Amino acid sequence: MKGNNVGYTSTAKLLHWGMALIWLCSWVIGILATHWREELNPQHGLTFTHKALASTLVFLIVVRIAWRLLHPVPALPSTMSPLMQRGAKVGHLLLYGIALLALPLSGWYWSSVADKPILVATLFTLPPLVEPNKDLYDIAKIIHTWTAWFCGALVGGHALIALKHHFIDKDDILLGMLPKRRG
Ligand code: HEM
Ligand code: HEM
Repeated sequence: MKGNNVGYTSTAKLLHWGMALIWLCSWVIGILATHWREELNPQHGLTFTHKALASTLVFLIVVRIAWRLLHPVPALPSTMSPLMQRGAKVGHLLLYGIALLALPLSGWYWSSVADKPILVATLFTLPPLVEPNKDLYDIAKIIHTWTAWFCGALVGGHALIALKHHFIDKDDILLGMLPKRRG
């Protein structure tokens, strides 16, 4: 294996994979809830699950960013050109800022203007971000939906690039995010 990557801390890995799982499930459930509404979501059960699951990201991202600021991340392999290294950093910044922060906030905003509750992990209700306002409903819906589709492409690209690093470039980037093997 090429590169000088020593890997992320166990906490960073736990946060990455835990949040990735929540994120991917939220995305799929959001799509099923809206595009298979009559077949799968007649009583809004999937919408409820989508909001209960996705809203946990609002809290987890605060922990994640705090951890990220306090702990250095592994250096990218020297086999990557400066341009690719910059691209990777911009990509990660977009994942943090848009997929993990702006997208949940846009869902929270939409439910707030629609005057609909969000039950975080079925445990407690999120306070509304703004006053209910029917005039803002359509624009809030468009923002959340378009951001969700943009992020679907962003995350898909991110996962494909990780696999390309492992199987084609044969560097240590994916291994640095996987649990350490014993022995
Ligand atoms: C506080 C967090 C969030 C809230 C309150 C929220 C709320 C909603 C609501 C109310 C819908 C419409 C569901 C329906 O019409 O039955 C929806 C759709 C959707 N949401 Fe979220 N959401 C949140 C976070 C997220 C996150 C983190 C993702 C991505 C992982 C996401 C992805 C989607 C997708 C893909 C759709 C379907 C869009 C379409 O119509 O094609 N949402 N969301
Ligand atoms: C689905 C499969 C996924 C794979 C295979 C994967 C793989 C990876 C790998 C290998 C890294 C380390 C990159 C490096 O060393 O520079 C990484 C970092 C990252 N991933 Fe993922 N990931 C996946 C899903 C996700 C999802 C769903 C999200 C969020 C929506 C996400 C957000 C991030 C972020 C923000 C980083 C940067 C971490 C940092 O350096 O601070 N990943 N991912």
